[in-house]
Amino acid sequence: MILSKELIDFGYIVAAMLFIFGLKMLNKPDTARQGNLVSFFGMLIAIVVTLFAGKLDYKWILIGITIGSAIGLLFATKVQMTAMPEMVALFNGFGGLASVLVGFIAFHQDNGAPIATAIPIFLAVLIGGVCFSGSCIAYGKLAGKVTGKPVLYPGQQIVNTLILLALIGLGVFFVVTGNVQYKYNTIYEIIGLALVLGVLSVIAIGGADMPVVISLLNSYSGLAACAAGFVIGNNVLIVSGALVGASGIILTNVMCKAMNRSLANVLFGGFGAVTTKKSGPGEKKEAKAVSVSDAYLVLEAARNVVVVPGYGMAVAQAQHTVRELGDLLEENGAEVRYAIHPVAGRMPGHMNVLLAEANVPYEQLFEMDDVNPIMSTVDVCIVIGANDVVNPAAREDESSPIYGMPIINVDEASTVFVLKRSMNPGFAGIENPLFFKDNTRMIFGDAKATIQSLVSEFKES
Ligand code: TAP
Repeated sequence: MILSKELIDFGYIVAAMLFIFGLKMLNKPDTARQGNLVSFFGMLIAIVVTLFAGKLDYKWILIGITIGSAIGLLFATKVQMTAMPEMVALFNGFGGLASVLVGFIAFHQDNGAPIATAIPIFLAVLIGGVCFSGSCIAYGKLAGKVTGKPVLYPGQQIVNTLILLALIGLGVFFVVTGNVQYKYNTIYEIIGLALVLGVLSVIAIGGADMPVVISLLNSYSGLAACAAGFVIGNNVLIVSGALVGASGIILTNVMCKAMNRSLANVLFGGFGAVTTKKSGPGEKKEAKAVSVSDAYLVLEAARNVVVVPGYGMAVAQAQHTVRELGDLLEENGAEVRYAIHPVAGRMPGHMNVLLAEANVPYEQLFEMDDVNPIMSTVDVCIVIGANDVVNPAAREDESSPIYGMPIINVDEASTVFVLKRSMNPGFAGIENPLFFKDNTRMIFGDAKATIQSLVSEFKES
């Protein structure tokens, strides 16, 4: 069965609309799950329509879908929540590789493409190639298989710029030359250089900045898919690629803003190569620790509690226990809020995903800008494995590498409990003066174990 052109266009328009509505619904925690489902149906319609859009060899498509689905299923079920950015990096990379293959095969089938298709073919293999090799390096950095430190050398930006200029030159030649053999040689060179550029540009970025880079590479994978859509004349691929390209760049921008850094600083700043700032020799600072049972007594009397989760909550997988403690505090008469910093954790929405998994009611989730104005009225703030996102140095110390980054002002609460295992710094590698403030008490240990002990104290009382 082959669908008529009108039906194909109609199916693609419905799919594109579902993508847009789905994306819009991802905007808020309470509609995000449905948004995912809506986009899923959009993709299903797009795939089904494409399968009946022309005469196809279904044997190979079936083999591809089976292998791809098996790999996807295996990864998705096995991946740890904390390793999610690694998986997204790989998925982006495969998206880029797919665009390179689509571009190259379209070129090969045409036996040297005419000018009109040569432009999108060039863009698909160029952006797809950079995206593929860059994503592989991003994955390697996050998985600890490639050094997490920025690999910097003199003249690095010049080398990258020269490669980019060479790629543009080769692209122009590829588009205008009529000689098929030259075209073949040039497309091989473009793919090779694009792969090199992807490696060189990501290797220079610190492992800790990878989530931002991955979001940017996600945007590239969308742009490459969009170009591939032009190559094969597939409208839904053009639309979905453009959506991924645009949303990826918006997300990158949101993350940079939340860290008070420019994209240029992330890409070329070599963040992570800076030396860790420790207290000077003359400064004697001591953090005050408190026992779980003493912390319980304070919490028992608290009427207004704010929980600030961070990367450590993800590491400890403490979200379910956190929810249990929240419920017990509420039963005890306290008002409980969860304050979410936009870049808490290691991926966008990391804390939202974890708290949603533990069924924390959405109305208890507060964004940084909504919770900061009431922070001085809060009795107890429980900081669970968060560090940089509550570091007052970002507000007070102009020499701090994170100065200017918006933070959750937990230090304004009457009492602050910080749950972490040691005095080690967080992602930015800098000391946190919050730990030494008079109203701060440290509760050392794994966050899940500590909260479990607090839960037991409440239950036994
Ligand atoms: P971090 O500043 O990285 O601090 C995490 C803290 O968790 C550490 O102090 C660590 O201390 C503690 N921890 C680790 N495992 C723990 C466990 N099992 N139990 C208890 N505590 C544990 O985290 P944050 O405050 O969430 O800030 C996120 C950082 O990542 C920011 O600097 C942000 O700019 C950066 N970043 C985020 C993103 C996104 S999209 N979220 C993207 C790029 C960069 P101990 O080792 O002493 O326990």
